[in-house]
Amino acid sequence: MDVYGLIGNPVGHSLSPPMHEAGYEALDVDARYVTFEPPKDGAAAAVEGAADLGVAGLNVTIPFKQDVLAAVEPDSLARRIGAVNTVDFSGGEPTGHNTDAVGATRALRAHDVALSGTAVVVGAGGAGRAVAFGLADEGMTVRVANRTESKAHDLADEVREATGHSLDALPELLADADVLVNATSVGMESDESPVPADALHGDLGVLDAVYRPLETRLLRDAADAGATTVDGAWMLLYQGVEAFERWTGREAPVDAMNEALRERL
Ligand code: ATR
Repeated sequence: MDVYGLIGNPVGHSLSPPMHEAGYEALDVDARYVTFEPPKDGAAAAVEGAADLGVAGLNVTIPFKQDVLAAVEPDSLARRIGAVNTVDFSGGEPTGHNTDAVGATRALRAHDVALSGTAVVVGAGGAGRAVAFGLADEGMTVRVANRTESKAHDLADEVREATGHSLDALPELLADADVLVNATSVGMESDESPVPADALHGDLGVLDAVYRPLETRLLRDAADAGATTVDGAWMLLYQGVEAFERWTGREAPVDAMNEALRERL
């Protein structure tokens, strides 16, 4: 039996165990997915310990995503993002990957949103970084807008052809944009949107990384404007799907994993 897991602190409420285990069950893979809560300064020790115990793969969440970088051989995307959310122990040295980036692009593509033209990413924190690099790697021109404008510039400086902006620039940026991603926490705790409703239009594909609630104010406004909407559970699903496929070498049973996830949201 293979053991996969998630390290986070706190880790209790994670949706990853039921999502991955539904995948194992659907494909008859002999594996379990468990959660671990190392001390907050224990990222490297946790990775080493997992390797010693024969754990096959780890997902990584807050607060360990940056610290794990130093304990693994990161791939180019994880190194550029500066964060690892998936560790693979199948080779000699553990390798580090960031499936949040591909989670966003696969979620959009699964809804027939073309990844060409211009993408506006709202937010320049951890999620914003992953999404900005992911969309730029697809060849999109990325515009980062953030409440703290300096952080948008700092991120844009690292991403190919990207530019940084304040939130005030959103109406202008969105006028000719093809994709919009909310990578802030706005919409999670209150029924607010980081984007003015009248800046949205029907040619946009809109992904909200927030998945609680599933239907955020932004997505309601986007649907009203005739845009294609993609909720945050799709991004969560596809980051898991991408990790599952890397670890097992098999095509993930996306429907079974999606069902297990949505049952719990
Ligand atoms: P995560 O890892 O989920 O991205 P984070 O690194 O703390 O979390 O980043 C949170 C993001 O949400 C940031 O872009 C933050 O903007 P600031 O850089 O200005 O802090 C954004 N954010 C949080 N609350 C916000 C609010 N009320 N309005 C606008 N942006 C907000």
